[in-house]
Amino acid sequence: MKPNVLVYMRVDSRVVKELEKDYEVTIFQNHEYLGDPHFDDALQKADGIIGLALKVTKELLDKAPHLKIVSNVSVGYDNLDVDELSNRGIMATNTPGVLNDTTADAIFGLMLATARRIPELDLFVKSGKWDISLQPNQYGVDVHHKTLGIIGMGNIGCAIAKRAHLGFGMTILYHNRTRNEEAETLYEATYCELDTLLQQSDFVCLMVPATKETEKMIGTNEFKKMKSSAIFINGSRGKNVDEEALYKALVNSDILAAGIDVFTQEPTSPTNPLLKLKNIVTLPHIGSSTTECEFNMSKLAALNLKKGLNGETPPNLLTKKF
Ligand code: GLV
Repeated sequence: MKPNVLVYMRVDSRVVKELEKDYEVTIFQNHEYLGDPHFDDALQKADGIIGLALKVTKELLDKAPHLKIVSNVSVGYDNLDVDELSNRGIMATNTPGVLNDTTADAIFGLMLATARRIPELDLFVKSGKWDISLQPNQYGVDVHHKTLGIIGMGNIGCAIAKRAHLGFGMTILYHNRTRNEEAETLYEATYCELDTLLQQSDFVCLMVPATKETEKMIGTNEFKKMKSSAIFINGSRGKNVDEEALYKALVNSDILAAGIDVFTQEPTSPTNPLLKLKNIVTLPHIGSSTTECEFNMSKLAALNLKKGLNGETPPNLLTKKF
């Protein structure tokens, strides 16, 4: 009998086809969760789970008695209770590396779009309002040669620093748990305390993983420390930012603008007040969402899954080794 695999949300269809050769595959694409009889039944049988952003809690694990591995199609793994998985001897994996450049492109694009007001001006043209010359109150601000503060200088942060420094002549400040030699040597990044970064940066870019420690790490106090001309970019996780404080900072002009790829609740509600503001550019969490990158992430996640189900150590193991 083939092992059972539960496929959740975004896994590339070519990769799913490959998985179907070796496994009994059940696919869920619509945020199904505990309580849905079809989902509960698949969990009950599952030897492996592969997918995006499935909340793996104690309650879910109690319903999956045969589970050996949860393979995330993402680098972030705040959806997983890693300690609980470790305690139960269930493996968990993620997909680091393959998305660094793609995500850095998206976040740098968001910075450019916010600073140069690209979505707003695109709408201006398409809605037929471009009947006189552009007015000064429609101008954006420069990106090149400004100071970029990166909070969270991991692999993606470093790929953003590379674009910013080598391509746009930007000065890089960063704050991180540990010093990043590559960023310091190759992109002349200067390590500094968070307050210094907030006070001195023209662009503040948040790239930390979501943990208990980083929850709402950017709130009212942090926005108040930023320059009133600052542009805030969130390419990490929505819950790292106090969304209400962001709204107030944008309305009260504590900062100039924001560009966010992530929300506290995803998909965000159409009534989220942030969506009414002119000085924010929003994206539906697209950091790694290109055809090529999604395929590569799915392939890596499938490799992790296969290794785990074969009793080997997957290349991107997050849980304890047994
Ligand atoms: C995307 O947000 C990821 O964690 O891969």
